[in-house]
Amino acid sequence: MTDGTLLDTPSRLLGSPAAGSRRVASFDYVVVGGTGDLTFRKLLPALYYSHSEGLIDGKSRIIGASRSELSGDDYRTRVVESLKRFLPASDYDEDTVASFVRRIDYVATDATDPDGWRNLAAFLGEDDTKVRVFYLATSPDLFGPICQRLKEAGLVSPLARVVLEKPIGRDLKTALEINRQVGAVFEESAIYRIDHYLGKETVQNLLALRFANALFEPVWNSRYIDHIQITVAETVGLEGRGGYYNRSGALRDMVQNHLLQMLCLVAMEPPSHLENEGVRDEKLKVLRALDPICGQDVIHRTVRGQYRAGAINGQAVPGYLDEPGIEGESNTETFVGLRAEVHNWRWAGMPFYIRTGKRLPVKASEVVIQFRPVPHSIFPGYGNDKLQPNKLVVRVQPNEGMHLHLMTKEPGPGGLRLREAVLNLSFSDTFKQRFPDAYERLLMDVVRGNPTLFMRRDEVEAAWRWCEPILDGWEEYSVKPKPYMAGSWGPSAAVAMIERDGRSWHDDAAVGR
Ligand code: BG6
Repeated sequence: MTDGTLLDTPSRLLGSPAAGSRRVASFDYVVVGGTGDLTFRKLLPALYYSHSEGLIDGKSRIIGASRSELSGDDYRTRVVESLKRFLPASDYDEDTVASFVRRIDYVATDATDPDGWRNLAAFLGEDDTKVRVFYLATSPDLFGPICQRLKEAGLVSPLARVVLEKPIGRDLKTALEINRQVGAVFEESAIYRIDHYLGKETVQNLLALRFANALFEPVWNSRYIDHIQITVAETVGLEGRGGYYNRSGALRDMVQNHLLQMLCLVAMEPPSHLENEGVRDEKLKVLRALDPICGQDVIHRTVRGQYRAGAINGQAVPGYLDEPGIEGESNTETFVGLRAEVHNWRWAGMPFYIRTGKRLPVKASEVVIQFRPVPHSIFPGYGNDKLQPNKLVVRVQPNEGMHLHLMTKEPGPGGLRLREAVLNLSFSDTFKQRFPDAYERLLMDVVRGNPTLFMRRDEVEAAWRWCEPILDGWEEYSVKPKPYMAGSWGPSAAVAMIERDGRSWHDDAAVGR
């Protein structure tokens, strides 16, 4: 059952949150991996905001579960410390924190031990009227076994749901197995596979841009668009996750999920409605229409990179191989560039250029829609080459907004001089309110029973089906990551890849600014 609300209520958009009307049902939110980095950095701050906005009722509880032997008080102390650390000082309110932690408890749970769930079962009791969420912030190989234990311990109540953090597996085979194991315990409608990019305001805004405006849809195809670029640039390195990252790399960590999901929202057909499975059905069709990059294609259509020591914002940073957790040689990529194509009527023959990397000069995610030039210029002295084709830049983060590049007449008498000008829509200037973190919306959507912004089983599998031949091709043709300096825009091969097609990346100096 969904409540059918994908986008926030108009009252919220106008800046007057109607908390009462958005309040969710009573729940017990069990975070398995309750002492992990994700829990303290993202999940608890997100729940804190939902609490402070009055979305959560007095009966709802948050329960940390992990192997450490901690008392409830020890855990609450750690929660308070982490909120102090991860919330902006202006959002940390002593009274709100005090009331928030009163709903938090902790149950020591050995996830793999058959008896390990007894305490949790006793703690949760048999209340069938509450939504019960198991958020598995653990390694993916534990997803299946944990679900099995939940079942054996009688914890899968009628309103139980399970949330799986990405990555779902490390290839198609492991993803299929995880989906099978979890699916043996929970109905698909009770499984929420998180891709936090789908919870980002501007990613959802792609839907609003495309389907709440009549302006763009008629030209949203390869007849009018020359190509599309999707960039997710990060300045951070491994952030203490060397062990995980070295086994994953950028294709598994970012492309298989976040970048492909964004590509889907840009490329999909209009669903007939937002509720039920409309959006997910359309995204799946895009994933299935992606032209496979197989065999030798990997040499021309992909670029792998790995950063070396360099500097970001004047700060020296070590190279990948010197990061904590990386021992000896490694062929893990920290940068990926790709040329993808969606083979259907709308997009045939039109490239989607994708790039993502760590230790790039700025943190910025954006989608660039590069339109084709006008078919004929009527302006003396302005051949087609001098009329800059229109470009729509959707800034996902930071400085969320949209920028439409247009040709305009330069003011002044005399001849008619043309210049490119940019129509800027800055969301922070327009809406003047806090932008919720992606997890805030997603965690409450689980309680609401709204799966629209989560990845369905077949989507995850289709995404792996497309990524796996790239991983195989790299192996077969010994495509090693090319070195790039930390603080640069990745290997020069990424520039060469797009320039071979007579195109260039959206001005790097402008990305994210
Ligand atoms: C995570 C990846 O899913 O997304 C990280 O595992 C990455 O490696 C992060 O840093 C980026 O998310 P955001 O929201 O900071 O762009």
